[in-house]
Amino acid sequence: ALLRSQLSGDQVIVVSNREPYIHQRVDGRIEVQRPASGLVTAIEPVMRACSGTWVAHGSGSADRETVDRDDHVRLPPDDPAYHLRRIWLNPAEEQGYYYGFANEGLWPLCHVAHVRPVFREADWQHYREVNRRFADAVVQEARSDDPIVLVQDYHFALVPAMLRERLPRATILTFWHIPWPNPESFGICPWRREILQGMLGSTILGFHTRFHCKNFIETVDRYLEARIEHEHSTIAYGGAETLIESYPISIAWPEGESGSHWPPVDECRRRVFQHLGLPEGHKLAVGVDRFDYTKGILERMHAVERLLEKHPQWLGRFTFVQVAAPTRGQLDEYREFQERIHRVAQRINERFGATGRPVVRLLASHHGPEQVNELYRAANICMVTSLHDGMNLVCKEFVAARDDEQGVLVLSRFAGAAREMPEALIVNPYHVEETADALQRALEMPAAEQRERMASLRTTVREFNVYRWAGRMLTDAARWRLRRRIEERV
Ligand code: G6P
Repeated sequence: ALLRSQLSGDQVIVVSNREPYIHQRVDGRIEVQRPASGLVTAIEPVMRACSGTWVAHGSGSADRETVDRDDHVRLPPDDPAYHLRRIWLNPAEEQGYYYGFANEGLWPLCHVAHVRPVFREADWQHYREVNRRFADAVVQEARSDDPIVLVQDYHFALVPAMLRERLPRATILTFWHIPWPNPESFGICPWRREILQGMLGSTILGFHTRFHCKNFIETVDRYLEARIEHEHSTIAYGGAETLIESYPISIAWPEGESGSHWPPVDECRRRVFQHLGLPEGHKLAVGVDRFDYTKGILERMHAVERLLEKHPQWLGRFTFVQVAAPTRGQLDEYREFQERIHRVAQRINERFGATGRPVVRLLASHHGPEQVNELYRAANICMVTSLHDGMNLVCKEFVAARDDEQGVLVLSRFAGAAREMPEALIVNPYHVEETADALQRALEMPAAEQRERMASLRTTVREFNVYRWAGRMLTDAARWRLRRRIEERV
């Protein structure tokens, strides 16, 4: 309701690559899947609240069957609240724009997880064309000359300036969901100026943390002739001004939502333990990620191995379950990484095989929100050990799932979330020994200490939820719109 009143009838258009519901044809039936994407997790509840239009890439095998003549579909399927306008990319566009420039170029460039970015001229051309197509779609969807457009993520660095040109009065809020590196790291991108110029078409440019804002401002300072006002955190370039601000993203707090009537924790634990064949009293740690090299899954397994070396009393009494959602599997870097993780899991299980029960369970398939939630509620420990992460929402989901105020979060200091969640056991995932020690500490943590930490984490995530994230951006936008109206009057 608050979001609606902030918008006071203004039209909101979201642009993202990933769509919120993917329709697949399975055995003749259409199945709806929620993609594993922090971006979708965060934006979807906001769209429900403000009933806007969402422009995204249609990627499911049955997506085309669900749209009307204008390529629109009303979502969510069971309780329509907003429109989705799908953009259909041909295989060459998808290859060049999505797999190529976005995920082999910008993704490793911004994460600096020691995977070398690849920049191909042809990918860049596709990236520009696809950005143009999405900008065209926004212009078509706009019902007035000054809509509020929320541009999401590294897939669309050029869209803000393209929109600014065609809808000069639009309020363009761009949110970069991944980290922004320092100027030296970013500087290896052959099209660094074009990317920065594109982003500076935004009215407001948001990152998760002050640190990423600072990196961005320094990058602009290094490569463009722009006027930077450090006091107000604004950049003036090409006759327009952009506010650079941090907005830590979050999740919708489950209370009061239909999905929050979860089975009791004991029941979740019973079901999960039965499914995995674990005896009562066994300790369970979980990791839930896209199967991505930035998530620190390898380092996590090494820490589990080290724990069992140092503390063999856990042998046969401890299991680590890793849910790894398939992702970007067409890229060699991802395939090789995923194969490597399978090999390491197997090696660890063979090494400790005498206990008869595998130590590592690698569940490399798509899991729906209910299944993931059941795991969160069954676990003693949740491991989030990203090598670098804009925010990371898994840690927030875990905390939201634990209304029993039990369970320990082991969290990487290189995830944006570490700044808001100091009550977790904070680790450097590159430091295997430290992570193994944190696991040991978590396994031995008394219930009272778990409760104290978890209760405090829950207060933070409940209060700084995703509506607060969107609300702060929209409040800043409303202030900017008001200022412009006043200026136009004089
Ligand atoms: C990250 C990105 C999102 C993306 C998600 C899933 O969270 O910031 O933009 O949607 O990963 O990746 P995918 O490539 O499957 O959309």
